[in-house]
Amino acid sequence: MIDFKGLFRPGILETRAYVPGKPICEVRRELGLGSVIKLASNENPEGPLPAVLEAIARAARELNRYPDSSAFRLTQALGAHLGVEPNELILGNGSNEVIDILIRALVSPGENVVFSEHSFIVYALTTKVHFECGRAVRLTDDDRHDLPAMAAAIDERTKLVIVCNPNNPTGTYNTHDEFLDFMRRVPPRVVVAVDEAYYEYVTATDYPQTLAMRSEFPNLISLRTFSKIHSLAGLRIGYGVGHPSLVDELHKTREPFNVNSLSQAAALACLENWHVVPERARRNERERERMSAQLAEIGFRVVPSQANFLLVRCDGNAGRLTTALLHKGVIVRPMNAFGLGEGALRISVGLPEENDRCLAALREILS
Ligand SMILES: Cc1ncc(COP(=O)(O)O)c(C=O)c1O
Repeated sequence: MIDFKGLFRPGILETRAYVPGKPICEVRRELGLGSVIKLASNENPEGPLPAVLEAIARAARELNRYPDSSAFRLTQALGAHLGVEPNELILGNGSNEVIDILIRALVSPGENVVFSEHSFIVYALTTKVHFECGRAVRLTDDDRHDLPAMAAAIDERTKLVIVCNPNNPTGTYNTHDEFLDFMRRVPPRVVVAVDEAYYEYVTATDYPQTLAMRSEFPNLISLRTFSKIHSLAGLRIGYGVGHPSLVDELHKTREPFNVNSLSQAAALACLENWHVVPERARRNERERERMSAQLAEIGFRVVPSQANFLLVRCDGNAGRLTTALLHKGVIVRPMNAFGLGEGALRISVGLPEENDRCLAALREILS
């Protein structure tokens, strides 16, 4: 038997593979349940629009062809929508891939990436695998990124800082003033990636509009996705908006056909139907606030959220509650992998009837 362990780079052997939220089919199969709802992966409970499904079906007729590697039509349309030039855009197989590209392209051995603890797990996983280059900074007492502490954690070997805003899994955000102050403290030689996967859900008026800051800070790249409010998580398409000379280098690190043709067609159709986005955000906000209030009534501490999920504090009971909910056909996300142990679980905002079912199940479990 070959000792494969000896073949791998340091960091890989100690890394545990990413554990996603359990899929509905798995829970049905394992627990023999008929009806199961998933509130575990911050997906949009509303499916893709009919126009998007039609665009995918049309594009499927040409699946014998490789996709357009430059995604010409999509980058033109996305650029026009965002008010940026196409050469400021890099698309990825999910925004996850853009994070991966940034880390791989920028960081050499001995250099580091600064991010926050209790944030999107992929930062910790990817940096662990890539020369163990991650450096996590504590959150503030009110569960937000401590941007002054993150700026202070930058040293001469820091290549990249990742700010998750709003943050997953806390749902908290940093304001325009806080972010601007942070950017002014970051040396221009350090790239700042602001992960805005939940951008379209935010309703706070003091949330930073980072695209408007890109001329002042050429070292800033904003990351967004079609996975969340646009309901395309299963197709995998996200993007980064940054300075053309930064983006140019990142393109060299991506796979030639990293964004498939169905994703490109679907994203284009989403842009053509952008009018649904504010309505979706309003529905999410209504349900998020209703759930927060009811969870608080049940007795949980709920962290104020600007996203499509809630971090629910449950003092040492997270595992027990997650399992009990699973047996009632409700999948939520325990927070061990996010470093929050048994102290919290994360519940994504679902359709009103799904949220009602989750709340009723929790009441039953606790009664
Ligand atoms: C903060 C954050 N960034 C990025 C992603 C990845 O999104 P994508 O599906 O675009 O890869 C997620 C997904 O949950 C997320 O929560």
